[in-house]
Amino acid sequence: MTNQQLKQEIVARFGSEDENIRCFFSPGRVNLIGEHTDYNGGYVFPCALSFGTYLAVRKNKQNSIRFASGNMPFITSIPLSRLNEKIGKEWVNYPLGVINEFIKDKHQIQGLDMYYFGNVPNGAGLSSSASIEMVTAYALSQVLGFSYSMIDLVKISQKAENLFVGVNCGIMDQFASGMGKKGHAIMLDCNTLKYELVPVKLRGYKIVIANTNKRRGLADSKYNERRAECEKAVEYISTKHPIRFLAELTYVDFEKYAHLIPDETIRRRAKHVVSENQRVLEAVEQLKAGNIMNFGLLMNSSHDSLRNDYEVTGIELDTLVNEARKIEGTIGSRMTGAGFGGCTVSLVAEDFIDEFIASVGANYKEITGLQADFYIADIGNGAGEF
Ligand code: GLA
Repeated sequence: MTNQQLKQEIVARFGSEDENIRCFFSPGRVNLIGEHTDYNGGYVFPCALSFGTYLAVRKNKQNSIRFASGNMPFITSIPLSRLNEKIGKEWVNYPLGVINEFIKDKHQIQGLDMYYFGNVPNGAGLSSSASIEMVTAYALSQVLGFSYSMIDLVKISQKAENLFVGVNCGIMDQFASGMGKKGHAIMLDCNTLKYELVPVKLRGYKIVIANTNKRRGLADSKYNERRAECEKAVEYISTKHPIRFLAELTYVDFEKYAHLIPDETIRRRAKHVVSENQRVLEAVEQLKAGNIMNFGLLMNSSHDSLRNDYEVTGIELDTLVNEARKIEGTIGSRMTGAGFGGCTVSLVAEDFIDEFIASVGANYKEITGLQADFYIADIGNGAGEF
């Protein structure tokens, strides 16, 4: 989407006015390793993608915000006095959530026209929602002159999703969308928000994303169930060894205190979180040292732990991963995002990518009846104006 196209689209929807139109973009993300660790105060290692959500904005004289999207037919005009009302399950709840956070922060909102266009596959676990929130937060802070740092806007976007949309997500997706940098992944400590941008130098390998095209369905309720299980594990362990988050435990600590968790399922959930957190640290060291093979092996262990201990995979993700690992040029493959559907991420030697797509795609179709989509990830920048 070019600046010119976005400007034409907003005018086509809302007519021409003499107000200046500004154009913004914020990306989706893929997480390389560190799954279900963010809300446990742990490490994650995501990167921003080159696809995401585009937004054209201009001030209007309507006393309302007019929303339109190039992806969905829904178009609406919401009076400034009614911005706090949620609208069914519509996508505008993401921008409305962000706007409500600005209002809570005592900012004055004025009439605006907003045209969105997204090219992140929807519901694929690549953070289309975080990219809508972040592009809105960044664009409005610029157009209305609010002074926030990018990390403040990340927090505002997460709150929008938690409090207005009602999904209890961690901070990883919004952080990656806001703070991503071309060619880098973000080693983020979700407890302190300290982060490091690590160059992703893959020496002849590429990041291949495979979309199960399975709708996540139950994902949100299962997501909240996992969060509750982790909180329960913290309570049990804290009876003898007070902690706030599971990620405070090293693996040695975990082995020492695991017996305090009476429920076998909850013990496995905690084991995943503690081991996954350790894997992120090791994976980042391996990448920095140029040991891509070891990075790939850690991705494999991550998936196996998410399948066996955290139980958030399912036939579609497991099939894509199993088929991917059969390809000679694959050095690591795992699910990415919340799970239950969505995408896998694999490291594949450049010469094997065609074979990967043909063979994994065909076998996946035969086993599940679904058509997978494949994307070669291009690591892009976080939120910005263009
Ligand atoms: C979703 C959430 C993130 C994170 C992942 C799992 O993407 O939005 O905050 O918890 O699941 O790692």
